[in-house]
Amino acid sequence: MTTPGPLTPPKPVEVAAHPKRTPPSASLPRVIAKRAAGLLATILVLPAFAAYVLGRAVLGPVKAFAGWSQALSILPGLTGEYLRRAFYQLALAHCGQDVCTTFGTVISHPTTSLGNRTYVGAFCVLGDVTLEEDVLLGSHVSVINGGAQHGIERLDVPVREQPGQWRRITIGRDSWIGDRSVVLANIGRHCVVGAGSVVVTPLEDYAIAVGNPARVLRYRNQESLTSAESKAEA
Ligand SMILES: CC(C)(COP(=O)(O)OP(=O)(O)OC[C@H]1O[C@@H](n2cnc3c(N)ncnc32)[C@H](O)[C@@H]1OP(=O)(O)O)[C@@H](O)C(=O)NCCC(=O)NCCS
Repeated sequence: MTTPGPLTPPKPVEVAAHPKRTPPSASLPRVIAKRAAGLLATILVLPAFAAYVLGRAVLGPVKAFAGWSQALSILPGLTGEYLRRAFYQLALAHCGQDVCTTFGTVISHPTTSLGNRTYVGAFCVLGDVTLEEDVLLGSHVSVINGGAQHGIERLDVPVREQPGQWRRITIGRDSWIGDRSVVLANIGRHCVVGAGSVVVTPLEDYAIAVGNPARVLRYRNQESLTSAESKAEA
């Protein structure tokens, strides 16, 4: 029997995202109430969006957007969640259905894309990133655009003035990033990153990685793969 080593990504296998998943039942009144609240939130943020569009013409998209993201980040509770989602659906490159960004979370770039049902915990900082659908970020997570925003080669020029490289980061769907992690590299789909980890190299789909720098413990689909192989060979 051949089984993959502990740090070797398993061969690609078809695993249904959530084979036994049944969508949570939502009663019609609840759906209507949520839609109405969403619509109300959109109406309420329209002046902010209009001000952002004006500010964008003067300050440029990044400066104008970051200021509104900071302002909206301090609105508490469910009200804040609805208002932020409404604003982001107007202003971001993409903000899907049922996205939740909680208190204190700041997004720096309007080019950011948030997939359906993405959940971003409290006090996160997001750069120019793509979070695919069902991504779950704990609190105090930073997703930044690589580790080389500034050059560090020259000693006669301040670091802040040295050009660097800006890498757009993608976190694949259904990945869960633990509290206080820092993500500087792409993360595949269905991954788990342990609390307090620093991800500096890309993670393959299904990886569970922990530590600083984050190292792969195992792959979530490894067990099912090996048991499937055993069954096939039996
Ligand atoms: C990574 C995690 C999911 C556990 O995964 P797991 O595969 O069940 O791992 P285990 O608990 O079996 O631990 C395996 C090893 O990794 C270590 N480990 C687990 N989590 C770790 C972490 N966050 N950082 C460093 N090492 C960690 C364990 O100590 C253990 O080490 P050992 O083999 O030397 O004893 C969990 O520890 C974690 O960090 N969850 C995130 C929780 C969180 O941030 N929630 C936010 C709210 S959404």
